[in-house]
Amino acid sequence: MTDQSLPPDQPATRKVFIKTYGCQMNVYDTERMTDVLSGQGFVATETADDADLVILNTCHIREKAAEKVYSDIGRMREIKETRASSGQSTMIAVAGCVAQAEGAEITRRAPTVDMVFGPQSYHRLPELIRQAEARAAGFGARPIATDFEADEKFEELPAASGAATRARGVTAFLTVQEGCDKFCTFCVVPYTRGAEISRSVTQVLAEARRLADAGVREVTLLGQNVNAYHGLAPDGANWSLARLLYALADIPGLDRLRYTTSHPRDMGDDLIAAHADLPQLMPYLHLPVQSGSDRILAAMNRRHTRADYLRLIERIKTARPDIAMSGDFIVGFPGETDEDFEATMSIVREVSYAACFSFKYSPRAGTPAATLATQVDEGLKTERLLRLQALINDETYAFNRSVVGRTMDVLVEKRGKRAGQLVGRSPWLQPVHFDGPETLIGQICCVNVDRTESFSLFGKALSTDRPEAGMIGSSTGRAIRITGETAR
Ligand code: 5AD
Ligand code: SF4
Repeated sequence: MTDQSLPPDQPATRKVFIKTYGCQMNVYDTERMTDVLSGQGFVATETADDADLVILNTCHIREKAAEKVYSDIGRMREIKETRASSGQSTMIAVAGCVAQAEGAEITRRAPTVDMVFGPQSYHRLPELIRQAEARAAGFGARPIATDFEADEKFEELPAASGAATRARGVTAFLTVQEGCDKFCTFCVVPYTRGAEISRSVTQVLAEARRLADAGVREVTLLGQNVNAYHGLAPDGANWSLARLLYALADIPGLDRLRYTTSHPRDMGDDLIAAHADLPQLMPYLHLPVQSGSDRILAAMNRRHTRADYLRLIERIKTARPDIAMSGDFIVGFPGETDEDFEATMSIVREVSYAACFSFKYSPRAGTPAATLATQVDEGLKTERLLRLQALINDETYAFNRSVVGRTMDVLVEKRGKRAGQLVGRSPWLQPVHFDGPETLIGQICCVNVDRTESFSLFGKALSTDRPEAGMIGSSTGRAIRITGETAR
């Protein structure tokens, strides 16, 4: 175990600023780092200007994300120098996937960085900080931790604490799986996050119970390839994601479950059945296909065809007719012709997504696709991306319009911009705005949606699942659950 006690000569409270880039897993990791550091006498601050420790929790998935880190390090160096002139010290740490992939290069390009550590080393933060402090005092080398020890990390990281969770609200992320063995030819994840590893069922259920006890009502299970989950259970068996979801659905207070990101190859029959069986499992699935062209899918090593994917969606929709789909797309993968791109446009039309993320292909060093001779011209990538995004936006608007006039469950998350206004999420992740008292935050309200504006819905609350909190109108207890017949 790591020694988490405070060195005797440290001030009781120091400030840490963590900047999070990239995916939801980094958001989760930032929260876990905050928990580790709060055991070391650190409190979180919203700005780097008054921070004793700055951590950049970086993303390496595309070049733009990775390059941004270096410009931010430059800004942090200026802050470090300003603070030094008034006798204050600042430690700068680079964490996350850029740290994992480019550890040595970071220290070469940016000597101001005091420590570098990858996603599997967050449990070692106390020790790394001590090493960095020793180096600042003239002893030892700059700490760099980029080993793969995910097993050890999950054992040693403090689980999400109730106090921290209360401050974070009614929805939470919970990492259940990390890394990936799929090796899509464009993707750095298998190299930065390492081989696929699942947390044990015991750990996941314990963390989920703590979150529920702290008032969290919606948990999103995270993993780079979350539906490949195969965690060890107390009965000695490896549980699938589906079995885990059934167990989570039994935890009182956890009214909503989601999971992301999934690979089409790992959508097992039991997981599809869970969508039919579990009302807690929200009818919204992020299932990236990346391209609509079989030729490109093969070159990407996705190991399924366009027809496989479309058949899979049909089966999922049969199990849960009101399910809405979201996806990821890459345009301009090496060798992508106009015809391949049109196949992507046509699959987007065919699936009719509720939302999608789309990206220009970005060559990543060390991945097979980066060295292909058939790289697509940057201007052409931009043209294709704009066309694809216009289509996706049209579909998102159409999806939002399709729920106007309906009554749906909304989990109220926070105050809106206007006084008296609240904002929550529909089962399909749409932001929903309506008027109501702040006592409704954390409750599931039954809302009639009467209009849509860009990406948001607006409506009126009819009832709540906890009427004692002072809700408008009458209520019969639990909010009405939207089922198949209200699907678009
Ligand atoms: N270039 C562009 N997009 C990428 N993604 C992953 N790697 C790359 C890359 N090299 C996208 C994929 C993935 C999402 C998280 O990021 O669409 O699903
Ligand atoms: Fe990357 Fe996802 Fe493919 Fe894994 S399945 S290699 S995380 S794109």
